[in-house]
Amino acid sequence: RTTTEEKRKRKMLEVKRIGVVGSGQMGSGIAQVAAMHGIDVWLHDLDPQALSKASSSISSSINRFVSKNHISQVAGADALKRLRLTTDLEDLQLADLIIEAIVESEDVKKSLFAQLDRIAKSSAILASNTSSISVTRLATSTSRPRQVIGMHFMNPPPVMKLIEIVRGADTSEETFVATKALSERLGKVVITSHDYSGFIVNRILMPMINEAFFALYTGVATKEDIDTGMKLGTNHPMGPLELADFIGLDVCLSIMRVLHAGLGDNKYAPCPLLVQYVDAGRLGRKRGIGVYEYS
Ligand code: CAA
Repeated sequence: RTTTEEKRKRKMLEVKRIGVVGSGQMGSGIAQVAAMHGIDVWLHDLDPQALSKASSSISSSINRFVSKNHISQVAGADALKRLRLTTDLEDLQLADLIIEAIVESEDVKKSLFAQLDRIAKSSAILASNTSSISVTRLATSTSRPRQVIGMHFMNPPPVMKLIEIVRGADTSEETFVATKALSERLGKVVITSHDYSGFIVNRILMPMINEAFFALYTGVATKEDIDTGMKLGTNHPMGPLELADFIGLDVCLSIMRVLHAGLGDNKYAPCPLLVQYVDAGRLGRKRGIGVYEYS
């Protein structure tokens, strides 16, 4: 006999509709992945222009999958039909899980979580795509800390195979199981991290990128040789400086600062050259200039 508790747990596992808040590179990529895997998605952004930009980048990414025969034209069209764009957060009220992918600012995220807590149905999970901010602290701005979790996608979400799930201090087992099941349904491999600064991937990746900046700063080698060294010497698809430009130097710097503050060790101090590039507005590919220049 199925107990009420078991029924409730099973119901929680069925994520059918999701909301994604923030339609930048990560949010639009996450929405696309979900829609391509049969899930109805509301993609929210306050800025209608950002939504239309997201819509065209999703279409062109889906076309890329179609043109390479990874998915059929019909499947691509179906995915687009599952996607709704909205500037009204209230539209997310029926979502079973909402993923936040807005700016990496603890205050801004906290205020969004408080709003989502009011709007979302009581059973909904509130997930954050944060790359380093404490999930435990984000959860404190809601009345449902047991249903708050980190769901960290890698850039670009349609291509990268990993989701790093971050369990906050109060995240329940039910929330974890439902989020893991959803991640696997999205075709991703899951790793699980406790809630310490940088989690797993950025804890290791960002000090490597920072070290590459130190190598450049102290004149060990040219940027090209540093990148070629790591690409051909360790089989990374991109060298660390090229990858920093891809991620955004501002994002790399902010994660280094979180590591430095949270782990309290000077080995995480950001390289002065990284700081200077960000001060100069050399933020990477998105600005056309970072370590390298892009036409
Ligand atoms: N949509 C659909 N398909 C895409 C795509 C997109 N947005 N971007 C790339 N692709 C596909 C291409 O069509 C191509 O497919 P085939 O293999 O079938 O031909 C494949 O991906 C490779 O793409 P490209 O040939 O255009 O270019 P590439 O070989 O240089 O790959 C890359 C691009 C996948 C980005 C690769 O360079 C790479 O893996 N780079 C490292 C990315 C990485 O480390 N990301 C994690 C960053 S850290 C992070 O995200 C965490 C954080 O919090 C900061």
